[in-house]
Amino acid sequence: MSPIVQSIDQSLWFIIIVDIFLLAGITATMLCFVFRYSRKKNRKPEQIEGSLKLEIIWTVIPTIIVMIMFYLGYRGYIGRTKIPDDAIAVKVIARKWSWEFQYPNGKSSDTLVVPVGKNIALDIVSEDVVHSFYAPDFRLKMDAMPGRTNKTWFLPTYEGTYDIFCAEYCGTLHAGMLAKMLTVAPEKYAAWLEAVPTVGRGEAVFKQICSACHSLDGKPGVGPTFKGIWSRKERVVTDGKEREIIVDEAYLRTSIIEPAKDITKGFQNVMPPQKMTDEDLEALIEYIKEL
Ligand code: CUA
Repeated sequence: MSPIVQSIDQSLWFIIIVDIFLLAGITATMLCFVFRYSRKKNRKPEQIEGSLKLEIIWTVIPTIIVMIMFYLGYRGYIGRTKIPDDAIAVKVIARKWSWEFQYPNGKSSDTLVVPVGKNIALDIVSEDVVHSFYAPDFRLKMDAMPGRTNKTWFLPTYEGTYDIFCAEYCGTLHAGMLAKMLTVAPEKYAAWLEAVPTVGRGEAVFKQICSACHSLDGKPGVGPTFKGIWSRKERVVTDGKEREIIVDEAYLRTSIIEPAKDITKGFQNVMPPQKMTDEDLEALIEYIKEL
């Protein structure tokens, strides 16, 4: 188990056990007082003038308990902030509404693939709004914010498949902003990292960036479907005025870089302007032409 998981679970269990003990203790004392000091048995209450011994006890014991909680939390926090020098750095890019993972050799994927037994450092960024990278099995949760890089790390120890969620409400498809993490043997990771992608660049960009909102089967999603989009006649709204256009290269280019400019009739623009390399843009447009 990752040392971070252990330390977080330890502090959680400590707090839960203390809470159960306090709940049981306070409830029992309360019930006991209700019966023992009922009005029937004690007509005239006696005035008590304070007790130094009691005050010391109820100050010192809770202080010790919360200091232990503080120590456990602080230890976990420091452990999480200090990224090991030998960690493999993976860049995590959040955008509406998908996750992208970039590896040291430039490879990019929509599934986080990591080798077991190696420390993994995550550099988490967002291209639009605030998202949150959340991998509960690893007790990992870190906001992805535009304009800054948040860092965290973890140590995968078992091979398996784990869930990644977005834990910060980020709009229409927030709930669908999911990804998987595969933890694999180091040799398998090395082979995967070097493997040439089986799909073309345009298709890869489409899957990574567009597919959450634009379907290929003709069904409208958050955005218009891409099925048969090339040279289709489309009614769009530009600056509040409706007009008819034909989907050509210039139109696609504008719609990717400045999605708010021409909005397809019947849709609302929720798409952030896409920042991608010229090569990716070319490849994506070539791919869309064939759909
Ligand atoms: Cu991204 Cu919620």
